[in-house]
Amino acid sequence: MPKHLPPGPKGLPMIGILHKMWREPLSFFQAATQEFGDIVSLDFGNRNALLLNDPALIKYVLQDNNKNYKKSSTVKIVEQVLGQGLATNEGEFWRQQRRLMAPSFHRKQIETLGDVIVDEAFAVVERWGNTAVSRDMLAEMMNLTLNINVKTMFGAEVGNQADEIGQAWTTILNTFNARSWAMVQTPEWWPSSANRQYQQSLELLDSTVYQFIADKRRQDTQQADVLTMLLNAVDEETGDHMPDKQVRDEVMTIFLAGHETTSVLLAWTFYLLAQHPEVVQKLREEIDVVCSGRKPSTHDLPNLTYTRHVIDEVLRVYPPFWLIYRAPYEAEQIGGYDLAKNDMVFISPALIHKHPRYWHDPNSFDPDRFSSEWMDDLPRYAYIPFGGGPRQCIGNNLAIMEAQLILATLVPRFDVEFIKPVQAESAVTLRPKGGMWLDVKDAQKVSARK
Ligand code: HEM
Repeated sequence: MPKHLPPGPKGLPMIGILHKMWREPLSFFQAATQEFGDIVSLDFGNRNALLLNDPALIKYVLQDNNKNYKKSSTVKIVEQVLGQGLATNEGEFWRQQRRLMAPSFHRKQIETLGDVIVDEAFAVVERWGNTAVSRDMLAEMMNLTLNINVKTMFGAEVGNQADEIGQAWTTILNTFNARSWAMVQTPEWWPSSANRQYQQSLELLDSTVYQFIADKRRQDTQQADVLTMLLNAVDEETGDHMPDKQVRDEVMTIFLAGHETTSVLLAWTFYLLAQHPEVVQKLREEIDVVCSGRKPSTHDLPNLTYTRHVIDEVLRVYPPFWLIYRAPYEAEQIGGYDLAKNDMVFISPALIHKHPRYWHDPNSFDPDRFSSEWMDDLPRYAYIPFGGGPRQCIGNNLAIMEAQLILATLVPRFDVEFIKPVQAESAVTLRPKGGMWLDVKDAQKVSARK
């Protein structure tokens, strides 16, 4: 019997719609939901996908019937870099690892990392000083979150290895981005300089991570860093610790999942602040009252509510992790349509966050919407910057804490000014195309002149 499929864009034999979507997949998906509705059939030649843009259907896949879904990736680089880390692991092994790691990411536990975050943000304050220049805020935030990640992951003793690790990590990330949606890929054995650099970077990271694991196991310290937390994690049911290879895979996964997402979030935040002086003013008023001119700390977080709403709203408008995908273990029906075993399901936070049925004036930037009562009626799965269900982002509290502390440090000290519109590019993350150039000035100087 032919499959019962929802309507969707027409494709070519063999490749389906790939040639239409690969350059800018999000715009393509957006146009498809506008034309065909909340459930769209996408033809990829050898397999079909359903694009879901309805909170109840999204909840069904991510939460209610999540046991029928796996994350399917055929990209070799994912396997090489992440191994069996949390983001790519499946089944009972994933459940066991998630249970083991969850306590390390609880709010109380990650608060021990707050001082490192604030210190690194202050290093930026020092570096920027009182010069007034145009800066690529994406590059700046990538650099800042990289320094934070290296130190929160390995501890302060990472010392002068931080730069080397940072560079290797950037090469891996660039390779990931280049290979994510590429129609044609250079084979990995090809001796191109990009492939060589990638291999060297992976080797360097592997050897460094194993070295840190060995050192920390020997020292048996109780420092506040993520690696120590992972090494100390004990499974409540079995009493087991993680073997070295598993710790290595989790370290690489946390790096990859947390680095670009958080820096992209911060870059978009400054972009929107540059266009909304009224939001900057409210932010400064709050930070001034809560922190009274001293360094922010994790104790301030519960009182930085407007700062939190600004971050929530940026995550709505520009969700860094813009595409969640799943593949069913068994064929089933979704919304009355057929999904075969080999098919895929696509869910895009970037689409559901702007669905006019759930969001009033969805294209405007309005942090206050997160404090309105109207939010109480919003279906839970209409806002999914960190996904949902059992595979929801494990680093969500850490990402929000990091963003709150960085904004509380930088916003009172610097003014950012808009230069020109920046497009969003839907690569692995929803990143600013061509970087994010903004004019950055010392805020005190600006206000003294006014
Ligand atoms: C603004 C920053 C971030 C965003 C928007 C984000 C978003 C997401 C989303 C949407 C998922 C679910 C993917 C899916 O269901 O297929 C996810 C999973 C994950 N994230 Fe994040 N993330 C962020 C920061 C972080 C940080 C800082 C870390 C690490 C500390 C992290 C670690 C992970 C891991 C390990 C998973 C896989 C969880 C699992 O499958 O059990 N993320 N993230």
